Amino acid sequence: MVYDLIVLGGGPAGYLASERAGHAGLSTLLIEKRAVGGVCLNEGCIPSKTLLHSAKIYDYARFSEKYGVTTENALLDHKTVVKRKNKVVKTLVAGIKARLKNNKVTVIDGFGEIIGKNDKGYEVKVDTDTYTSKRLLIATGSEPIIPPIPGAKEGLNSGFVLTNREILDISEIPQSLTVIGGGVIGLEMASYFNSTGSKVTVIEMLDHIAGNTDKEISNLLMKNYEKKGIDFKLGAKVVEIKDNIVVYEVNGEKMSVTADKVLMSVGRKPCIQGIGLDKIGVEIERNRIKVDSRGKTNIPEVYAAGDVNGRSMLAHTAYREAEVCVNNMLGKKENVRYNTIASIIYTNPEVACIGETEETAKEKGIDCTTTTVSMRYSGRYVAENEGGNGICKLIVDKKYNKLIGVHMIGNYASEIIYGVAVMMETEMKIDDIKELVFPHPTVSEIIREGIFMG
Ligand code: NAI
Repeated sequence: MVYDLIVLGGGPAGYLASERAGHAGLSTLLIEKRAVGGVCLNEGCIPSKTLLHSAKIYDYARFSEKYGVTTENALLDHKTVVKRKNKVVKTLVAGIKARLKNNKVTVIDGFGEIIGKNDKGYEVKVDTDTYTSKRLLIATGSEPIIPPIPGAKEGLNSGFVLTNREILDISEIPQSLTVIGGGVIGLEMASYFNSTGSKVTVIEMLDHIAGNTDKEISNLLMKNYEKKGIDFKLGAKVVEIKDNIVVYEVNGEKMSVTADKVLMSVGRKPCIQGIGLDKIGVEIERNRIKVDSRGKTNIPEVYAAGDVNGRSMLAHTAYREAEVCVNNMLGKKENVRYNTIASIIYTNPEVACIGETEETAKEKGIDCTTTTVSMRYSGRYVAENEGGNGICKLIVDKKYNKLIGVHMIGNYASEIIYGVAVMMETEMKIDDIKELVFPHPTVSEIIREGIFMG
């Protein structure tokens, strides 16, 4: 048989595309080498959020006295936390499999490799079988970058160095953990292991943590975590890993930190090797599949969605890219609008950002105003965050009188940012936002406060 669509990779991009394509009546084959759900469900977003939620409950218990509650002997049992994490993952993976089945998607376990094109379509090999389809969607995701630091590979082999995959399953809390890379994965894991009692050190090459996050906010996040006991080494480049020691350089001076375990979280790279892209001439640019905003590659009827195209590397971007690819296959000309995609760091406090920062707006020559509001303007925030020092920054384009960026640190930010995305996506004018009614008391009211202050 000739399928309408073969999808390579069953992560958020691949499984959602398959589901949508199946729903629209396309005969769809999904090939997954490891586990349906991909990194997000099995070793990324969902497992890490499950761990972080347990840490949050534990923190509430340990520091409950400030809320007038006394708890004795609060304990976090890491083995039970991991067991629950596995249960959550299993439940969600089963849900995805059921949805694929309901939408008549055929799922094959195995490594898919494109081997060419014949007059019927593209040919993909899995073990000894070959499948043919009119269209291809490449959604093979990404994998951790392992930099050529002496000792890194040996450390990975011995189990001293871990990636996001292994760290979610370690059976014991290490007494000390050194995190290489103060980006999203590094910070979320540093947060969990700090709460559970590890002595955590974060080594970051840049002079700030959290990548492109607004600097005032990343600085506040760092201060919060320094207070909780995490040690940050900034402007520090790791040069060697050996026998429970991580050697790093600051301004040319060598220093070291001892560790029971090391987390390597210096970024991820698209999985483009060995899948036969060269067999049909798919264009690669800077080690990622080059696509336009419709997810199209340079080859007719070959699309790429999710981390493999390296455009945004977030699960929610992957979802939208997948939908856009399928809709374009069905003849609807849709684009992904990348400027209204939020990014979130699920630390405690949470960080959520969308759109331009003051810096990027300035670089683009946009005439804008910035309003910074303390989260303490929200009654709900004060009631629930004893000693909280969150802020919310709103960037408004003066010419068009609309929001072009919002950056927040404080809990519930991860949920609130969606409302801002709607405001930005629909290009609401500030005067129209002023007419919205925000439920009271909610932390979301901070957006209303900021809008009226600006
Ligand atoms: P990242 O790109 O966010 O951060 C990596 C950090 O490592 C950077 O700050 C970089 O300067 C630093 N670094 C690189 N080489 C170094 C070295 N030799 N020594 C010290 N520091 C070094 O990458 P991360 O955290 O691995 O995350 C990978 C991807 O996963 C990202 O694209 C992220 O968006 C995604 N992700 C998203 C999450 C979320 O949305 N909440 C959660 C986890 C991951």
